[in-house]
Amino acid sequence: MKDEKRKHIFITGGTTGIGLALAELYLKEGHHVGICGRDLSKIPDSFKDIYPMLHSFEVDVRDMKKLSTTIKNFSKDGLDILIANAGIGDFKKTVLPDMESSRQILDINVFGVFNTFEAGMEVMIPRKKGHLVAMASVAGMVGLPRIGAYSASKAAVLKLCESFAIDLSSVGINVTAIAPGFIETPLTKSNNHHMPFLMSAEKAAKKMKKAIERKRVLYVLPFRMRMVMLVLEGMPRFLYRFFIKMFRFE
Ligand SMILES: NC(=O)c1ccc[n+]([C@@H]2O[C@H](COP(=O)([O-])OP(=O)(O)OC[C@H]3O[C@@H](n4cnc5c(N)ncnc54)[C@H](OP(=O)(O)O)[C@@H]3O)[C@@H](O)[C@H]2O)c1
Repeated sequence: MKDEKRKHIFITGGTTGIGLALAELYLKEGHHVGICGRDLSKIPDSFKDIYPMLHSFEVDVRDMKKLSTTIKNFSKDGLDILIANAGIGDFKKTVLPDMESSRQILDINVFGVFNTFEAGMEVMIPRKKGHLVAMASVAGMVGLPRIGAYSASKAAVLKLCESFAIDLSSVGINVTAIAPGFIETPLTKSNNHHMPFLMSAEKAAKKMKKAIERKRVLYVLPFRMRMVMLVLEGMPRFLYRFFIKMFRFE
């Protein structure tokens, strides 16, 4: 690939799962990829040898100052795509919410995305180009029982992206929200319930990359999960609550 064709792509939470799978796809095409996470030892050793274009940074997305400096330094020659992917969940599914864990989820999943977008905008707005992407979830499309904080965090990401997609188009910046269903990653590994339409991280990353190339504002996957969620989202809310209780999804 000619040097001028190489893109600069930064992914938060790229040490495992979806972020790592996306990073690998871009690296295979020869792009410059920056990833960050709290624990870089999670990145497979082979990655550093196979992909010299990989730049990894130990940064917590809650640390705005460090995140902003890292993204600025990585973007000296441009920033084409910034993917706010870092996120956590607490799927112990207790009836009464664990408030401490809920606060942490909101902090990382909402303010982490906010910090990432702010850092990205500082680089992209003066250049009048760039693409901001955030990893939401189908859990943000309805209020799911026993994972209230996670559902709320992803709903916030979906709405943030919907608004920003309108606002930032005036300065040449695209915005995409991705809402996956169940994807096979360390996050879902400990789930001991049935996960309908489960998809591998590699397959999901390929579909997400295509949606980003097409500049989709919202991309929900897999297709069958999208259909289910559209029905649940469109139901009168009393019917939704009845349905969830009846099928013991709570
Ligand atoms: N898997 C699914 O079924 C699914 C479905 C819908 C949405 N999602 C969303 O997809 C995204 C990726 O999840 P995943 O499934 O790939 O899970 P994962 O394998 O656990 O990956 C999460 C990534 O986020 C990083 N991270 C977490 N907290 C961070 C913080 N404070 N600062 C920086 N990095 C942080 C982790 O790295 P460190 O531990 O090194 O910090 C890791 O690289 C998340 O936003 C998740 O909510 C996943």
